[in-house]
Amino acid sequence: MQVFCGTLLALFATGTALAQDVSVNDGRDLYRTYCWQCHGFEATGDGPMAEMLAIRTPDLTKLAGENEGVFPTYRIAEQIDGRSQLLAHGGEMPIFGAVFETDRQTAVAVPNGQPMMVGLPLANLLAFLGSIQAD
Ligand code: HEC
Repeated sequence: MQVFCGTLLALFATGTALAQDVSVNDGRDLYRTYCWQCHGFEATGDGPMAEMLAIRTPDLTKLAGENEGVFPTYRIAEQIDGRSQLLAHGGEMPIFGAVFETDRQTAVAVPNGQPMMVGLPLANLLAFLGSIQAD
């Protein structure tokens, strides 16, 4: 616990964003700049570029539905920022790590309860994606 608090203090010193800075609207703006061309305006996988790709572009409103109702925060974050080696080696999805790079890191909760540090833009995007999950 002490180590954890120390880490948090160190992060505050270097411009950490707070949970309340995370914005679904900012995430939607990012989505409408970088993602809709393939994943579709409503994120259902039917953007104008989707048909040019060799593999099916996923419907991003079903991420929770396809994962027993739990939004898979960690896996999605990895896939978007390119931590996932799978996509780094030849997937059709572009790597956005550089786009979302920032000093403003914030903690997002992942399903096992652990906080995961991501940049604020990625946290915004995750919040937006979380908000559009179909029932
Ligand atoms: C050039 C088209 C294209 C763009 C632009 C694009 N994606 Fe993708 N995305 C794909 C494809 C194709 C896949 C399937 C990945 C694979 O299997 O390699 C994918 C996979 C994903 C996945 C994984 C879904 C799953 O079920 O695991 C997520 C999440 C995702 N994209 C989110 C985004 C976000 C957020 C953006 C914008 C920052 C974005 N994508 C931009 C084409 C794109």
